[in-house]
Amino acid sequence: MTKSVILTGLRANNDLTLGNYFGGMLPIIEMAKARSSEYQINMFIPDLHSFTTPINHDELQTQVMNNARLFVAAGLPLDNNEIHLYRQSYISAHSELTWILDCFTGMGEMQRMTQFKDKSNKLSNDAFNATKDEQAESPLVNTAMALESAMHSSERISVGLFNYPVLMAADILLYDALYVPVGDDQTQHLEYTRDIAERMNSKFGSIFTVPLAAPKQHEFFGKGQGLRIMDLQTPSKKMSKSDESGKGVIFLSDDPKLAAKKVMSATTDDLALIAFDRKNQPGITNLLEILSLLRGTPLDDVVAEFEGHTRYGDFKKVVANEVEGFLTNFQANLSEVDDSKVLEKLESSEIAMRASANKTLLRAQRAVGLRPKE
Ligand code: TYM
Repeated sequence: MTKSVILTGLRANNDLTLGNYFGGMLPIIEMAKARSSEYQINMFIPDLHSFTTPINHDELQTQVMNNARLFVAAGLPLDNNEIHLYRQSYISAHSELTWILDCFTGMGEMQRMTQFKDKSNKLSNDAFNATKDEQAESPLVNTAMALESAMHSSERISVGLFNYPVLMAADILLYDALYVPVGDDQTQHLEYTRDIAERMNSKFGSIFTVPLAAPKQHEFFGKGQGLRIMDLQTPSKKMSKSDESGKGVIFLSDDPKLAAKKVMSATTDDLALIAFDRKNQPGITNLLEILSLLRGTPLDDVVAEFEGHTRYGDFKKVVANEVEGFLTNFQANLSEVDDSKVLEKLESSEIAMRASANKTLLRAQRAVGLRPKE
């Protein structure tokens, strides 16, 4: 009997954050450690997704390897044939299926994606601000600059950023994945994956396995809802690796003492009463959530332990110590990862996964008429 597939990917640009770790990495690694006899585990590095926004391409190879090493440091076993670790661009079926899915995806569907709207707004604002700075130096060329700013922003928003979710759908559908652990920010992309799979299946007959809807995913991974770790300085926004200041972001490579300081200076509120309340006390609520994840204990227990306490400093100290201990341990594991074993695993998984992805691709090619029917 074939096993159900659990699959996820984490992009290789910048260092990964505590949000990436808890949202995408830990759920699959826990499954890989405990349940690989029941499920096939696919963990991959979406390197083609890495330059949907501008990056330094000279660093990509290093970052891809670094990502793979981070997965191993987090506990991904390499000596197990049910666990696969691979690079997206090494399996060309990802790009090929993307094109097919592209042609059945509406522009409007992609335009509605929140992540596209957020990221393209950010790129536009960056281009606008860059032009504004130049204008300040040379006020005579206002009109030309405004035009250039408009051009710049639309050029910087790539078609790749626009159809990023289509490539993500191909990543999932090629392997018939049923379970896809991701943070809350990816829920909309998962929903699109289900939609396109169902659309193709109803038009062409059964090609794809439809991954489970978000609530079922949360149930499977033992969570009440999608996870969204918030920025420590601005707890109304998601902790993100692309944040420029990095003050509210804990990176897995942060000096553990510096990370503890970031926790100590996290924004809270002036209510002076600890409570789990996402709306009115987002900073404290975020810290409670982080503490429960770091300890691996249920959120309710952590809330019960601290609820009603009035000294935020004491509570932050507990979280800061936990973060410091976690990073010290994680970085010690990282320093022991054997690069040659990682590379060996990547290469052997890529052979196996190429064969499995090509089977699904052929099903899709036959369905749309690119290959003769069986
Ligand atoms: P990426 O690389 O932006 O993020 C990797 C994972 O981290 C989760 N995440 C968070 N979770 C909780 N709190 C946060 N603050 C936080 N920030 C990030 C993301 O939800 C994600 O699970 N498109 C994906 C990569 C991808 C993928 C796939 C994932 C490509 N193909 C197929 C699953 C299946 C992405 O950009 O994630």
